Amino acid sequence: MDYKNMFSLKDKNIVITGGCGYLGREIVNGVRAMGASVQVIDYAESATIRCNLDSTEELKLAIKKAAIAKGKIDGLITMAANLGAGVLNDIENMDDEYWGKGLDGTIGYSFRTIREIIPYMKEHGGSIVNIGSLYAVGAPDPRTYYDTPFSSTPNYGAGKAATVELTKFCAAYLAKYGIRVNCVSPGSFPHEDVQKNTLFKKRLESKTMMGRIGYPEDLVGVMVFLLSEASNYITGVNIMVDGGQTAW
Ligand SMILES: NC(=O)c1ccc[n+]([C@@H]2O[C@H](COP(=O)([O-])OP(=O)(O)OC[C@H]3O[C@@H](n4cnc5c(N)ncnc54)[C@H](O)[C@@H]3O)[C@@H](O)[C@H]2O)c1
Repeated sequence: MDYKNMFSLKDKNIVITGGCGYLGREIVNGVRAMGASVQVIDYAESATIRCNLDSTEELKLAIKKAAIAKGKIDGLITMAANLGAGVLNDIENMDDEYWGKGLDGTIGYSFRTIREIIPYMKEHGGSIVNIGSLYAVGAPDPRTYYDTPFSSTPNYGAGKAATVELTKFCAAYLAKYGIRVNCVSPGSFPHEDVQKNTLFKKRLESKTMMGRIGYPEDLVGVMVFLLSEASNYITGVNIMVDGGQTAW
């Protein structure tokens, strides 16, 4: 093992869905800085390959383009998530359509992206990283949200918990192809506009052992680690990146 370069992503072609988002942008920068080519699949304008993940046909084409770009795919991060539009988001009022959209926009996106990428990875192996959440492993505390415009919906946590299980299923099934599958679960990484609500920010900070919220750069190291040779014997795990929030 070349220990000096064990975290290098040189010559790897990495697909990142949702790479135009708040967390994704920084992860794209970090993964590129470690030497990888990155194909950002997202419906935002700044994407390398524009695609709406609601459409399987568009996704198939996008993955094909990502593979053609470098002749192979070595890694995947399934960052994209989308709960859809909806205002009635508590469990007493949520309608079936919104419930289903939230599940599809979490676990559905990850499932479809993994399924479509397998043919481009199975010959030579690879590394897949799914994105879970703090709320994949525990419930949102309603007191955090009280008197703020924010909420966390039941379909979001359910979809993220399912993503952790899908990670384990895929790790078991895809090991025969040399494909590792892991999950990273961020804690509280509120977007900049949400951080402006100081009451909410303080409540989030007080939930963590480290006394602060997470910032996008806090996720880069673990992504590089899981995509690189440094994590060669790690598959099927869910790594919490939450300032210790779920450890107490
Ligand atoms: N921010 C947090 O506090 C936090 C905490 C835990 C987990 N997460 C998870 O991290 C991931 C990224 O979160 P974020 O805060 O960067 O979110 P974000 O909303 O800023 O980014 C999501 C990205 O996905 C893309 N996207 C959404 N729907 C799409 C579709 N149908 N087709 C193509 N692209 C689509 C968006 O364009 C956007 O670039 C998500 O899976 C989220 O659930 C975030």
